[in-house]
Amino acid sequence: MTVRSSFVVVANRLPVDEVSTPEGRQWRRSPGGLVTALHPVLAEHKGTWVGWAGGTGAAPEPFDLEGIRLHPVPLSAEELERYYEGQSNATIWPLYHDAVETPVYKRRWRETYRLVNARFAEAAADVAAEGATVWVQDYQLQLVPAMLRELRPDLRIGFFLHIPFPPIELFMQMPFRTEILRGLLGADLVGFQQRLAAQNFVRLARHLLGLRYEGQMIQVDGRRVKAGAFPISIDTREMERMAADPAVQARAKEIREELGNPRTIILGVDRLDYTKGIELRLKAFRELLADGKLTVPDAVMVQVATPSRERVEHYQALRVKVEREVGRINGEFGRVGVPAVHYLHQSYSRSELAAMYVAADVMMVTPLRDGMNLVAKEYVASRTDQGGALVLSEFAGAATELRQAFLCNPHDPDAVKDALLRAVHVEKPEARRRMRTMQRHLRTNDVGHWAKSFLTELGVPEAEAA
Ligand code: ADP
Ligand code: G6P
Repeated sequence: MTVRSSFVVVANRLPVDEVSTPEGRQWRRSPGGLVTALHPVLAEHKGTWVGWAGGTGAAPEPFDLEGIRLHPVPLSAEELERYYEGQSNATIWPLYHDAVETPVYKRRWRETYRLVNARFAEAAADVAAEGATVWVQDYQLQLVPAMLRELRPDLRIGFFLHIPFPPIELFMQMPFRTEILRGLLGADLVGFQQRLAAQNFVRLARHLLGLRYEGQMIQVDGRRVKAGAFPISIDTREMERMAADPAVQARAKEIREELGNPRTIILGVDRLDYTKGIELRLKAFRELLADGKLTVPDAVMVQVATPSRERVEHYQALRVKVEREVGRINGEFGRVGVPAVHYLHQSYSRSELAAMYVAADVMMVTPLRDGMNLVAKEYVASRTDQGGALVLSEFAGAATELRQAFLCNPHDPDAVKDALLRAVHVEKPEARRRMRTMQRHLRTNDVGHWAKSFLTELGVPEAEAA
Protein backbone atom coordinates (compact mmCIF):
# COMPACT_ATOMS: atom_id res chain seq x y z
CA MET A 1 0.00 0.00 0.00
CA THR A 2 1.32 3.48 -0.84
CA VAL A 3 1.84 5.62 2.25
CA ARG A 4 1.04 9.28 1.51
CA SER A 5 3.12 12.00 3.18
CA SER A 6 2.64 15.71 3.69
CA PHE A 7 6.41 16.22 3.30
CA VAL A 8 8.27 14.62 0.40
CA VAL A 9 11.88 14.98 -0.72
CA VAL A 10 12.79 13.90 -4.24
CA ALA A 11 16.48 13.39 -4.97
CA ASN A 12 18.35 11.27 -7.48
CA ARG A 13 19.80 9.20 -4.66
CA LEU A 14 18.26 7.71 -1.57
CA PRO A 15 20.37 8.19 1.58
CA VAL A 16 21.42 4.55 1.32
CA ASP A 17 22.69 2.39 -1.56
CA GLU A 18 21.86 -1.23 -1.97
CA VAL A 19 25.10 -3.22 -2.29
CA SER A 20 25.77 -6.93 -2.71
CA THR A 21 28.22 -8.35 -0.19
CA PRO A 22 29.30 -11.95 0.54
CA GLU A 23 26.71 -11.86 3.36
CA GLY A 24 23.96 -10.91 0.93
CA ARG A 25 22.33 -7.57 0.08
CA GLN A 26 23.02 -4.71 2.43
CA TRP A 27 22.31 -0.99 2.70
CA ARG A 28 25.25 1.41 2.81
CA ARG A 29 25.21 5.20 3.22
CA SER A 30 25.35 6.96 -0.17
CA PRO A 31 28.21 9.32 -1.01
CA GLY A 32 28.10 13.10 -1.20
CA GLY A 33 27.06 16.28 0.50
CA LEU A 34 23.39 16.15 -0.51
CA VAL A 35 22.81 13.05 1.59
CA THR A 36 24.89 14.40 4.51
CA ALA A 37 22.72 17.52 4.62
CA LEU A 38 19.27 16.09 3.95
CA HIS A 39 19.41 13.05 6.18
CA PRO A 40 19.00 14.96 9.47
CA VAL A 41 16.29 17.16 7.90
CA LEU A 42 14.20 14.17 6.82
CA ALA A 43 14.75 12.40 10.12
CA GLU A 44 13.20 15.43 11.82
CA HIS A 45 10.29 15.84 9.42
CA LYS A 46 9.41 12.14 9.24
CA GLY A 47 8.63 12.48 5.56
CA THR A 48 9.10 10.32 2.47
CA TRP A 49 12.33 10.30 0.44
CA VAL A 50 11.88 9.40 -3.22
CA GLY A 51 15.12 8.35 -4.96
CA TRP A 52 17.22 5.77 -6.72
CA ALA A 53 18.62 2.90 -4.63
CA GLY A 54 21.90 2.60 -6.51
CA GLY A 55 21.31 -0.59 -8.53
CA THR A 56 19.73 -1.35 -11.88
CA GLY A 57 16.57 -3.28 -12.74
CA ALA A 58 13.52 -3.54 -10.53
CA ALA A 59 13.50 -1.23 -7.51
CA PRO A 60 13.22 -2.57 -3.95
CA GLU A 61 9.80 -2.17 -2.28
CA PRO A 62 9.33 1.03 -0.22
CA PHE A 63 10.59 0.63 3.34
CA ASP A 64 11.22 2.59 6.55
CA LEU A 65 14.67 3.51 7.82
CA GLU A 66 15.27 5.48 11.01
CA GLY A 67 11.83 7.08 10.83
CA ILE A 68 12.15 8.02 7.14
CA ARG A 69 9.97 6.36 4.51
CA LEU A 70 12.18 5.44 1.53
CA HIS A 71 10.50 5.13 -1.85
CA PRO A 72 12.91 3.65 -4.44
CA VAL A 73 12.67 4.60 -8.14
CA PRO A 74 14.07 2.04 -10.64
CA LEU A 75 16.68 2.73 -13.32
CA SER A 76 17.60 0.32 -16.10
CA ALA A 77 21.26 -0.18 -17.06
CA GLU A 78 20.70 1.95 -20.17
CA GLU A 79 19.03 4.72 -18.16
CA LEU A 80 21.90 4.70 -15.70
CA GLU A 81 24.31 5.23 -18.56
CA ARG A 82 22.31 7.92 -20.37
CA TYR A 83 20.48 9.82 -17.64
CA TYR A 84 22.95 9.53 -14.71
CA GLU A 85 26.42 9.08 -16.22
CA GLY A 86 25.63 10.91 -19.45
CA GLN A 87 23.26 13.85 -19.21
CA SER A 88 23.65 14.47 -15.45
CA ASN A 89 27.36 13.85 -14.98
CA ALA A 90 29.01 14.35 -18.37
CA THR A 91 26.82 17.26 -19.59
CA ILE A 92 25.25 19.23 -16.74
CA TRP A 93 27.84 18.67 -13.97
CA PRO A 94 30.83 20.05 -15.93
CA LEU A 95 28.78 22.85 -17.56
CA TYR A 96 27.48 24.11 -14.21
CA HIS A 97 30.98 23.94 -12.71
CA ASP A 98 32.37 26.62 -15.03
CA ALA A 99 33.06 23.99 -17.71
CA VAL A 100 36.32 23.05 -15.97
CA GLU A 101 36.03 19.90 -18.07
CA THR A 102 34.39 20.06 -21.48
CA PRO A 103 30.68 19.16 -21.33
CA VAL A 104 29.58 16.39 -23.68
CA TYR A 105 26.23 16.81 -25.48
CA LYS A 106 24.25 13.85 -26.77
CA ARG A 107 20.67 13.77 -28.01
CA ARG A 108 19.85 10.32 -26.66
CA TRP A 109 21.06 11.30 -23.18
CA ARG A 110 18.60 14.21 -23.15
CA GLU A 111 15.73 11.97 -24.17
CA THR A 112 16.46 9.57 -21.33
CA TYR A 113 16.88 12.44 -18.88
CA ARG A 114 13.36 13.57 -19.80
CA LEU A 115 11.95 10.08 -19.39
CA VAL A 116 13.60 9.45 -16.02
CA ASN A 117 12.60 12.89 -14.72
CA ALA A 118 8.99 12.02 -15.64
CA ARG A 119 9.31 8.79 -13.63
CA PHE A 120 10.52 10.68 -10.55
CA ALA A 121 7.67 13.20 -10.96
CA GLU A 122 5.12 10.39 -11.12
CA ALA A 123 6.58 8.69 -8.07
CA ALA A 124 6.41 11.97 -6.12
CA ALA A 125 2.82 12.53 -7.29
CA ASP A 126 1.92 9.05 -6.00
CA VAL A 127 3.32 9.50 -2.50
CA ALA A 128 2.37 13.14 -1.85
CA ALA A 129 -0.77 13.76 0.21
CA GLU A 130 -3.28 16.43 -0.84
CA GLY A 131 -1.65 19.89 -0.49
CA ALA A 132 1.71 18.36 0.51
CA THR A 133 5.08 20.07 0.29
CA VAL A 134 7.44 18.43 -2.21
CA TRP A 135 11.07 19.47 -2.19
CA VAL A 136 12.97 18.48 -5.35
CA GLN A 137 16.78 18.32 -5.18
CA ASP A 138 19.62 19.03 -7.56
CA TYR A 139 20.72 19.03 -11.17
CA GLN A 140 19.67 15.48 -12.02
CA LEU A 141 15.98 16.42 -11.62
CA GLN A 142 15.56 19.89 -13.10
CA LEU A 143 12.52 18.96 -15.18
CA VAL A 144 10.64 17.48 -12.22
CA PRO A 145 9.10 20.70 -10.78
CA ALA A 146 7.14 21.52 -13.97
CA MET A 147 6.22 17.87 -14.59
CA LEU A 148 4.96 17.51 -11.05
CA ARG A 149 2.95 20.72 -11.19
CA GLU A 150 1.24 19.41 -14.29
CA LEU A 151 0.29 16.19 -12.47
CA ARG A 152 -0.52 17.73 -9.10
CA PRO A 153 -1.37 21.45 -9.13
CA ASP A 154 -2.41 21.21 -5.46
CA LEU A 155 1.20 20.74 -4.25
CA ARG A 156 3.61 23.29 -2.85
CA ILE A 157 6.82 22.67 -4.80
CA GLY A 158 10.35 23.73 -3.84
CA PHE A 159 13.57 23.10 -5.73
CA PHE A 160 17.11 23.36 -4.40
CA LEU A 161 20.25 23.25 -6.54
CA HIS A 162 23.24 21.94 -4.59
CA ILE A 163 25.79 22.86 -7.26
CA PRO A 164 26.59 26.25 -8.84
CA PHE A 165 24.22 27.79 -11.39
CA PRO A 166 26.28 29.14 -14.31
CA PRO A 167 26.24 32.61 -15.83
CA ILE A 168 24.02 33.12 -18.90
CA GLU A 169 26.89 32.77 -21.43
CA LEU A 170 27.65 29.27 -20.21
CA PHE A 171 24.09 28.09 -19.67
CA MET A 172 23.26 29.08 -23.24
CA GLN A 173 25.48 26.22 -24.51
CA MET A 174 22.94 23.67 -23.31
CA PRO A 175 20.97 22.24 -26.24
CA PHE A 176 17.68 21.91 -24.36
CA ARG A 177 18.17 25.01 -22.27
CA THR A 178 14.59 26.32 -22.56
CA GLU A 179 13.15 23.05 -21.34
CA ILE A 180 15.46 22.99 -18.33
CA LEU A 181 14.56 26.55 -17.42
CA ARG A 182 10.84 25.84 -17.82
CA GLY A 183 11.29 22.73 -15.67
CA LEU A 184 12.78 24.74 -12.82
CA LEU A 185 10.12 27.44 -13.15
CA GLY A 186 7.54 24.80 -12.25
CA ALA A 187 8.59 25.30 -8.62
CA ASP A 188 7.22 27.98 -6.28
CA LEU A 189 10.68 28.60 -4.86
CA VAL A 190 14.02 27.86 -6.52
CA GLY A 191 16.91 27.87 -4.04
CA PHE A 192 20.64 28.23 -4.74
CA GLN A 193 23.79 28.13 -2.61
CA GLN A 194 24.87 31.66 -3.54
CA ARG A 195 23.27 35.02 -4.24
CA LEU A 196 25.10 35.27 -7.56
CA ALA A 197 23.58 31.98 -8.71
CA ALA A 198 20.06 33.23 -7.91
CA GLN A 199 20.83 36.37 -9.91
CA ASN A 200 22.09 34.29 -12.84
CA PHE A 201 18.77 32.44 -12.75
CA VAL A 202 16.41 35.43 -12.76
CA ARG A 203 18.45 37.13 -15.48
CA LEU A 204 18.36 33.97 -17.53
CA ALA A 205 14.56 33.83 -17.23
CA ARG A 206 14.38 37.30 -18.77
CA HIS A 207 17.04 36.60 -21.38
CA LEU A 208 15.69 33.27 -22.59
CA LEU A 209 11.93 33.60 -22.05
CA GLY A 210 11.48 37.38 -21.78
CA LEU A 211 9.97 36.96 -18.30
CA ARG A 212 9.61 39.98 -16.03
CA TYR A 213 11.10 39.96 -12.58
CA GLU A 214 11.22 42.26 -9.61
CA GLY A 215 13.96 41.60 -7.08
CA GLN A 216 14.07 37.81 -7.12
CA MET A 217 10.40 37.27 -7.97
CA ILE A 218 9.70 36.10 -11.52
CA GLN A 219 6.27 36.33 -13.19
CA VAL A 220 5.50 33.22 -15.18
CA ASP A 221 2.16 32.10 -16.65
CA GLY A 222 0.25 34.18 -14.08
CA ARG A 223 2.21 32.62 -11.18
CA ARG A 224 5.02 34.01 -9.10
CA VAL A 225 8.24 32.03 -8.79
CA LYS A 226 10.74 33.15 -6.21
CA ALA A 227 14.51 32.60 -6.45
CA GLY A 228 16.81 32.93 -3.46
CA ALA A 229 20.11 31.97 -1.81
CA PHE A 230 20.08 29.40 0.99
CA PRO A 231 23.64 28.26 1.78
CA ILE A 232 23.50 24.65 2.89
CA SER A 233 25.26 23.40 6.00
CA ILE A 234 25.92 20.46 8.31
CA ASP A 235 24.45 19.14 11.53
CA THR A 236 27.02 21.09 13.54
CA ARG A 237 26.07 19.77 16.99
CA GLU A 238 26.19 16.18 15.81
CA MET A 239 29.62 16.71 14.23
CA GLU A 240 30.89 18.30 17.45
CA ARG A 241 29.51 15.45 19.52
CA MET A 242 31.05 12.82 17.28
CA ALA A 243 34.47 14.53 17.22
CA ALA A 244 34.50 14.94 20.99
CA ASP A 245 33.66 11.25 21.55
CA PRO A 246 36.55 9.64 23.49
CA ALA A 247 36.70 6.76 20.99
CA VAL A 248 37.13 9.21 18.09
CA GLN A 249 39.74 11.22 20.03
CA ALA A 250 41.65 8.01 20.77
CA ARG A 251 41.45 6.96 17.14
CA ALA A 252 42.80 10.38 16.09
CA LYS A 253 45.86 9.83 18.31
CA GLU A 254 46.30 6.39 16.85
CA ILE A 255 46.17 7.80 13.30
CA ARG A 256 48.93 10.27 14.18
CA GLU A 257 51.01 7.42 15.53
CA GLU A 258 50.37 5.27 12.50
CA LEU A 259 51.63 8.15 10.38
CA GLY A 260 54.84 8.29 12.45
CA ASN A 261 53.86 11.28 14.64
CA PRO A 262 54.84 13.89 12.06
CA ARG A 263 54.88 17.57 13.01
CA THR A 264 52.32 18.41 10.33
CA ILE A 265 49.58 16.26 8.88
CA ILE A 266 47.99 17.78 5.80
CA LEU A 267 44.62 16.26 4.91
CA GLY A 268 42.36 16.25 1.84
CA VAL A 269 38.95 14.51 1.78
CA ASP A 270 36.96 14.60 -1.46
CA ARG A 271 35.01 12.52 -3.89
CA LEU A 272 37.49 11.77 -6.66
CA ASP A 273 36.09 14.57 -8.82
CA TYR A 274 37.89 16.95 -11.19
CA THR A 275 36.10 19.96 -9.66
CA LYS A 276 37.80 19.35 -6.31
CA GLY A 277 41.33 20.48 -7.28
CA ILE A 278 43.05 17.37 -5.93
CA GLU A 279 45.80 17.48 -8.52
CA LEU A 280 46.69 21.10 -7.93
CA ARG A 281 46.85 20.45 -4.19
CA LEU A 282 49.26 17.55 -4.72
CA LYS A 283 51.32 19.69 -7.04
CA ALA A 284 51.55 22.48 -4.44
CA PHE A 285 52.76 19.93 -1.88
CA ARG A 286 55.32 18.52 -4.32
CA GLU A 287 56.69 21.96 -5.15
CA LEU A 288 57.01 22.87 -1.48
CA LEU A 289 58.96 19.64 -0.90
CA ALA A 290 61.15 20.40 -3.92
CA ASP A 291 61.74 23.98 -2.69
CA GLY A 292 62.75 22.56 0.71
CA LYS A 293 59.98 24.60 2.39
CA LEU A 294 58.45 21.34 3.67
CA THR A 295 60.25 18.08 4.36
CA VAL A 296 59.24 14.44 4.83
CA PRO A 297 58.72 12.97 7.46
CA ASP A 298 58.09 16.30 9.27
CA ALA A 299 55.14 16.89 6.99
CA VAL A 300 52.98 14.19 5.41
CA MET A 301 49.87 14.41 3.35
CA VAL A 302 46.82 12.15 3.57
CA GLN A 303 44.47 12.27 0.61
CA VAL A 304 41.16 10.44 0.88
CA ALA A 305 39.62 10.23 -2.59
CA THR A 306 36.21 8.60 -2.41
CA PRO A 307 35.39 6.52 -5.50
CA SER A 308 32.82 8.39 -7.61
CA ARG A 309 31.09 8.06 -11.03
CA GLU A 310 33.74 5.58 -12.05
CA ARG A 311 32.36 4.78 -15.49
CA VAL A 312 32.37 8.41 -16.68
CA GLU A 313 35.43 9.15 -18.82
CA HIS A 314 36.39 12.46 -17.17
CA TYR A 315 36.56 10.60 -13.86
CA GLN A 316 38.65 7.76 -15.21
CA ALA A 317 41.13 10.24 -16.69
CA LEU A 318 41.30 12.12 -13.38
CA ARG A 319 42.05 8.96 -11.44
CA VAL A 320 44.99 8.20 -13.70
CA LYS A 321 46.36 11.74 -13.29
CA VAL A 322 45.97 11.81 -9.50
CA GLU A 323 47.52 8.40 -9.02
CA ARG A 324 50.41 9.29 -11.30
CA GLU A 325 51.08 12.44 -9.27
CA VAL A 326 50.92 10.52 -5.96
CA GLY A 327 53.40 8.00 -7.38
CA ARG A 328 55.69 10.76 -8.55
CA ILE A 329 55.73 12.49 -5.16
CA ASN A 330 56.32 9.27 -3.26
CA GLY A 331 59.01 8.24 -5.74
CA GLU A 332 60.89 11.50 -5.30
CA PHE A 333 60.33 12.33 -1.65
CA GLY A 334 59.30 9.15 0.16
CA ARG A 335 61.53 6.64 1.92
CA VAL A 336 61.07 2.96 2.73
CA GLY A 337 58.14 2.83 5.15
CA VAL A 338 57.69 6.63 4.99
CA PRO A 339 55.60 7.77 2.04
CA ALA A 340 55.09 11.50 1.54
CA VAL A 341 51.47 11.05 0.46
CA HIS A 342 49.09 8.47 1.88
CA TYR A 343 46.47 8.00 -0.81
CA LEU A 344 43.22 6.24 0.11
CA HIS A 345 40.70 5.49 -2.63
CA GLN A 346 38.02 4.24 -0.21
CA SER A 347 34.87 5.12 1.69
CA TYR A 348 34.94 5.49 5.46
CA SER A 349 32.51 5.57 8.33
CA ARG A 350 31.53 9.00 9.65
CA SER A 351 33.49 8.39 12.87
CA GLU A 352 36.69 7.39 11.05
CA LEU A 353 36.45 10.57 8.96
CA ALA A 354 35.91 12.58 12.14
CA ALA A 355 39.06 11.02 13.61
CA MET A 356 41.02 12.04 10.51
CA TYR A 357 39.73 15.63 10.84
CA VAL A 358 40.77 15.70 14.50
CA ALA A 359 44.21 14.29 13.63
CA ALA A 360 44.94 16.78 10.82
CA ASP A 361 46.90 19.98 11.40
CA VAL A 362 45.97 21.45 8.05
CA MET A 363 42.90 20.65 5.97
CA MET A 364 43.12 21.45 2.27
CA VAL A 365 39.88 22.17 0.43
CA THR A 366 40.88 23.54 -2.95
CA PRO A 367 38.07 23.07 -5.50
CA LEU A 368 38.19 24.90 -8.82
CA ARG A 369 34.44 25.34 -8.32
CA ASP A 370 32.09 23.90 -5.69
CA GLY A 371 28.47 24.73 -4.79
CA MET A 372 29.26 24.68 -1.07
CA ASN A 373 31.72 21.99 0.17
CA LEU A 374 30.58 20.41 3.40
CA VAL A 375 33.98 18.83 4.12
CA ALA A 376 35.29 22.31 4.95
CA LYS A 377 32.43 22.84 7.40
CA GLU A 378 32.81 19.38 8.93
CA TYR A 379 36.52 19.99 9.58
CA VAL A 380 35.85 23.28 11.35
CA ALA A 381 33.04 21.82 13.48
CA SER A 382 35.13 18.79 14.42
CA ARG A 383 37.92 20.91 15.96
CA THR A 384 36.40 21.14 19.42
CA ASP A 385 40.00 21.69 20.63
CA GLN A 386 40.11 24.77 18.36
CA GLY A 387 43.26 23.41 16.78
CA GLY A 388 43.95 22.92 13.10
CA ALA A 389 43.90 25.29 10.13
CA LEU A 390 41.76 25.32 7.00
CA VAL A 391 43.08 26.17 3.54
CA LEU A 392 40.04 27.01 1.42
CA SER A 393 39.53 27.86 -2.23
CA GLU A 394 37.74 31.13 -2.98
CA PHE A 395 35.73 29.15 -5.53
CA ALA A 396 33.97 26.99 -2.95
CA GLY A 397 30.58 28.28 -1.78
CA ALA A 398 31.85 27.80 1.78
CA ALA A 399 34.38 30.63 1.26
CA THR A 400 31.54 33.19 1.47
CA GLU A 401 30.96 32.12 5.07
CA LEU A 402 34.30 30.79 6.33
CA ARG A 403 36.20 34.03 5.88
CA GLN A 404 38.78 33.18 8.57
CA ALA A 405 40.14 30.25 6.57
CA PHE A 406 43.40 30.62 4.64
CA LEU A 407 41.68 31.57 1.41
CA CYS A 408 43.39 31.07 -1.94
CA ASN A 409 42.84 31.16 -5.68
CA PRO A 410 43.20 27.53 -6.82
CA HIS A 411 44.12 28.63 -10.35
CA ASP A 412 47.30 30.25 -9.02
CA PRO A 413 49.79 27.60 -7.82
CA ASP A 414 51.84 30.17 -5.90
CA ALA A 415 48.76 31.35 -4.02
CA VAL A 416 47.94 27.75 -3.02
CA LYS A 417 51.52 27.15 -1.84
CA ASP A 418 51.50 30.40 0.07
CA ALA A 419 48.19 29.62 1.82
CA LEU A 420 49.41 26.13 2.70
CA LEU A 421 52.65 27.44 4.20
CA ARG A 422 50.81 30.12 6.17
CA ALA A 423 48.46 27.46 7.55
CA VAL A 424 51.38 25.18 8.46
CA HIS A 425 53.19 27.95 10.32
CA VAL A 426 50.28 29.83 11.90
CA GLU A 427 50.76 30.68 15.59
CA LYS A 428 48.44 28.73 17.88
CA PRO A 429 46.55 31.74 19.32
CA GLU A 430 45.80 33.06 15.85
CA ALA A 431 44.71 29.62 14.64
CA ARG A 432 42.36 29.35 17.61
CA ARG A 433 40.88 32.78 16.96
CA ARG A 434 40.15 31.85 13.37
CA MET A 435 38.59 28.50 14.33
CA ARG A 436 36.44 29.99 17.07
CA THR A 437 34.92 32.60 14.76
CA MET A 438 34.12 30.01 12.09
CA GLN A 439 32.68 27.62 14.67
CA ARG A 440 30.38 30.33 16.03
CA HIS A 441 29.09 30.89 12.53
CA LEU A 442 28.39 27.18 11.99
CA ARG A 443 26.52 26.80 15.28
CA THR A 444 23.91 29.31 14.15
CA ASN A 445 24.04 28.48 10.47
CA ASP A 446 23.57 24.73 10.64
CA VAL A 447 21.55 22.46 8.38
CA GLY A 448 18.42 22.92 10.50
CA HIS A 449 18.65 26.65 9.89
CA TRP A 450 19.08 26.04 6.16
CA ALA A 451 16.00 23.81 5.91
CA LYS A 452 13.90 26.13 8.03
CA SER A 453 14.83 29.24 6.01
CA PHE A 454 13.98 27.48 2.77
CA LEU A 455 10.71 25.96 3.95
CA THR A 456 9.55 29.17 5.61
CA GLU A 457 10.21 31.07 2.38
CA LEU A 458 8.26 28.37 0.55
CA GLY A 459 5.31 29.13 2.79
CA VAL A 460 5.35 25.94 4.86
CA PRO A 461 3.66 26.78 8.19
CA GLU A 462 6.11 27.66 11.00
CA ALA A 463 5.49 24.52 13.05
CA GLU A 464 6.05 22.24 10.07
CA ALA A 465 9.18 24.09 8.91
CA ALA A 466 10.79 23.99 12.38
P1 ADP B 1 30.23 16.58 -2.63
O1 ADP B 1 28.81 16.71 -2.23
O2 ADP B 1 30.56 17.23 -3.92
O3 ADP B 1 30.76 15.20 -2.56
P2 ADP B 1 30.81 17.87 -0.05
O4 ADP B 1 32.12 18.28 0.53
O5 ADP B 1 29.75 18.92 0.03
O6 ADP B 1 31.10 17.41 -1.55
O7 ADP B 1 30.24 16.60 0.71
C1 ADP B 1 30.93 15.39 0.78
C2 ADP B 1 30.34 14.55 1.91
O8 ADP B 1 30.78 13.20 1.75
C3 ADP B 1 30.81 14.99 3.29
O9 ADP B 1 29.74 14.88 4.21
C4 ADP B 1 31.93 14.01 3.61
O10 ADP B 1 32.08 13.75 4.99
C5 ADP B 1 31.47 12.75 2.90
N1 ADP B 1 32.64 11.94 2.47
C6 ADP B 1 33.63 12.32 1.64
N2 ADP B 1 34.53 11.34 1.46
C7 ADP B 1 34.11 10.30 2.18
C8 ADP B 1 34.61 8.96 2.41
N3 ADP B 1 35.74 8.52 1.84
N4 ADP B 1 33.89 8.17 3.20
C9 ADP B 1 32.75 8.61 3.77
N5 ADP B 1 32.23 9.84 3.58
C10 ADP B 1 32.89 10.68 2.80
C1 G6P C 1 27.09 16.09 -5.11
C2 G6P C 1 25.77 16.28 -5.82
C3 G6P C 1 24.74 15.26 -5.34
C4 G6P C 1 25.31 13.86 -5.49
C5 G6P C 1 26.66 13.74 -4.79
C6 G6P C 1 27.31 12.38 -4.98
O1 G6P C 1 26.88 16.34 -3.77
O2 G6P C 1 25.31 17.62 -5.60
O3 G6P C 1 23.55 15.38 -6.07
O4 G6P C 1 24.41 12.90 -4.97
O5 G6P C 1 27.54 14.74 -5.29
O6 G6P C 1 27.39 12.05 -6.31
P1 G6P C 1 26.68 10.76 -6.93
O7 G6P C 1 26.79 10.94 -8.40
O8 G6P C 1 27.46 9.61 -6.39
O9 G6P C 1 25.27 10.75 -6.44
